[in-house]
Amino acid sequence: MQDEFVNRNVVVTGGTGALGAVVVERLLQAGAICHVPAREASGTGLVRHRHLHLVAGVDLVDEAAVDRFYDGVPELWASIHLAGGFAMAGVGDTTRAHFVHQFEMNTLTAFLCCRAAVRGMRRTGRGGRIVNVAARPGLDSRRGAGMAAYATSKAAVAALTVALAEELKDEHILVNAIAPSTLDTPANRRAMPQADSSRWLSPDAAAQTLLQLASPANREVSGALLPLYARA
Ligand SMILES: NC(=O)c1ccc[n+]([C@@H]2O[C@H](COP(=O)([O-])OP(=O)(O)OC[C@H]3O[C@@H](n4cnc5c(N)ncnc54)[C@H](OP(=O)(O)O)[C@@H]3O)[C@@H](O)[C@H]2O)c1
Repeated sequence: MQDEFVNRNVVVTGGTGALGAVVVERLLQAGAICHVPAREASGTGLVRHRHLHLVAGVDLVDEAAVDRFYDGVPELWASIHLAGGFAMAGVGDTTRAHFVHQFEMNTLTAFLCCRAAVRGMRRTGRGGRIVNVAARPGLDSRRGAGMAAYATSKAAVAALTVALAEELKDEHILVNAIAPSTLDTPANRRAMPQADSSRWLSPDAAAQTLLQLASPANREVSGALLPLYARA
């Protein structure tokens, strides 16, 4: 894995988040040039690095902003889509606005970034790698009780992944997704102080799988939805 990303341009959306920061750090260690779109540049906690390009003012639900951002990335090799978010809400509390917000944050951002990434990869003519992030309730809908909007939005990410893998298979653009269970992040520890966090998935393990799927060493795996359920 160590040299596979050297001088390869990789986009990481949500690269300022809990999982994203770990993924960016690992990619930089592996020699990648990382391009991270962010709504705000300040207070991201990302380390400064000559191969880290943090581009501020990019809201990933804004079609034109997404296309502009990708147009600024030279020779795109891989695009890893971690932007998203979670909210618990029973059906009675799920307003139209809440449902649409979950869909936009998780599904629309992934779609717009997949589309822009494909455009960039077609320009290089060398193929590429796209990796999305679904979630356990997106594959196992019974786990979506109490969070139907989130589960639906992540199920759509899974469907998007498989459909694009099929559509792009002759262009050497491999499209996969991971479906993590609860990640061991500071936000989850704050939200669930009584839970046994030792059973949660470590961001480092999730990042390792994301890098494997985005790597040129992955020559065949496409259309996979990988459950990463740790011991939960
Ligand atoms: N944490 C878990 O337990 C868990 C489990 C399964 C799946 N996942 C999925 O894994 C991914 C990463 O999770 P995480 O815990 O690292 O989340 P996080 O810390 O909340 O980070 C989410 C990132 O997405 C960005 N983002 C969201 N909407 C955006 C938009 N419209 N435009 C630009 N950036 C946007 C956020 O930017 P801002 O700082 O600007 O908000 C942030 O950088 C998410 O898709 C999440 O649904 C998480």
